[in-house]
Amino acid sequence: MRKLSFRICLFVFCTTSVVLTDAYPGLLKNHVSSLFIFGDSIFDAGNNNYINTTYKANYPPYGETFFKHPTGRVSDGRLFPDFIAEYAKLPLIPPYLQPQNHEFTNGVNFASSGSGALVQTSQGMVIDLKTQLGYFKNVSRLLRQKLDDAETDYLLSRAVYLFSVGGNDYAVPFVTNSSVLRSYSHQQFVGMVIGNLTSVVKEIYEIGGRKFGFPSVGPLGCLPYAKVLQGETMGACFDRVAPYEELHNKQLSKLLQKLQRDLKGFKYSIPDFHTLLEEMINHPSKYDFKEGKVACCGSGPYRGIFSCGGRRGLKVYELCDNPSEYVFFDSAHPTERAYQQLAQLSWSGNSSVAGPYNLKALFESL
Ligand SMILES: *[C@@H]1O[C@H](CO)[C@@H](O)[C@H](O)[C@H]1NC(C)=O
Ligand SMILES: *[C@@H]1O[C@H](CO)[C@@H](O)[C@H](O)[C@H]1NC(C)=O
Ligand SMILES: *[C@@H]1O[C@H](CO)[C@@H](O)[C@H](O)[C@H]1NC(C)=O
Ligand SMILES: *[C@@H]1O[C@H](CO)[C@@H](O)[C@H](O)[C@H]1NC(C)=O
Ligand SMILES: *[C@@H]1O[C@H](CO)[C@@H](O)[C@H](O)[C@H]1NC(C)=O
Repeated sequence: MRKLSFRICLFVFCTTSVVLTDAYPGLLKNHVSSLFIFGDSIFDAGNNNYINTTYKANYPPYGETFFKHPTGRVSDGRLFPDFIAEYAKLPLIPPYLQPQNHEFTNGVNFASSGSGALVQTSQGMVIDLKTQLGYFKNVSRLLRQKLDDAETDYLLSRAVYLFSVGGNDYAVPFVTNSSVLRSYSHQQFVGMVIGNLTSVVKEIYEIGGRKFGFPSVGPLGCLPYAKVLQGETMGACFDRVAPYEELHNKQLSKLLQKLQRDLKGFKYSIPDFHTLLEEMINHPSKYDFKEGKVACCGSGPYRGIFSCGGRRGLKVYELCDNPSEYVFFDSAHPTERAYQQLAQLSWSGNSSVAGPYNLKALFESL
């Protein structure tokens, strides 16, 4: 392993540090920011493979296009953060629970399919957001043991923290016909979700995080599974979830503006998944898709019944020939190609697509 000496100066005080350059390639030389990933199935690269849950995608045809084998990602191939890592010149960011994964200087992925901001969301089946935060705290301690304080602070403050949180808090109660939504007003319920998100973001800030990426919650009622929930008026979007996602996205944007005002050095990007996915669903050909509404894999109307892979009760399911012609791979999750388009737009799009920073600017900012 090569060693590189460098000096850290704070005002007039300088110290000389020795760092192992191979242990964090490019970090100091090329200033590549690391990537820490939190959230649900939109981002889960395989953590759920290692927990006792039925929320898994570790069987075919998941993973069939890019990896050629199932990885636990709920899609035919790569997910949004996989593309973002590529554009940021990072390797694929591995799941935290993957055994033998002890290399955290490029970041790590804590996301868990089915999880939300609230501990009650899919409780017992997922790694909830608080536990994901706990994992991150442990990782930050390990980094501090391996690097020195200045290097750890540098790494944590340059890193990007990407979140996909909220969709399940609103969608799962409808899917499971739980009574939880009836116990609160829309405002109260969204307030709890945003409140829990706020405390997680603030804790990461305390530990040293500065740069946050928060895609808006997608059009939950317009996904193939939701059209089935709509019952007899099927075809229309399931409209009871819309007030939650709309209020959530408004509150999220307000929250991040406030944190930017209150917390020194806090920066953020909101890639607008809601608008972009709605566009892709309604105008698939504009984005070079053939089908925006029907999933590639599943059964029933819109292939909206969650049976892709035949491991969730129903053994029989339909599978399209070419997932890249579809916006949705299964009843609730985009295809790799849709994620790639979302990622390209979020990376370099203008402020109507991802603002106030796009992800490229967020990664490159100091
Ligand atoms: C996994 O979870 C199921 C249902 O929650 C439970 O019945 C089973 O005992 C658990 N298995 C293990 C190995 O913990
Ligand atoms: C963090 O590490 C401590 C000590 O190794 C361990 O007891 C704790 O369970 C870990 N926390 C999480 C959330 O994994
Ligand atoms: C959902 O729950 C409510 C009351 O808890 C019940 O009246 C209704 O029939 C349930 N719907 C379905 C589809 O199970
Ligand atoms: C977080 O969610 C719980 C429910 O899981 C709720 O009781 C609590 O008030 C929320 N916290 C904040 C700060 O909103
Ligand atoms: C932003 O980009 C979109 C699509 O790439 C374009 O339609 C729109 O006009 C642009 N808006 C501005 C303000 O440049």
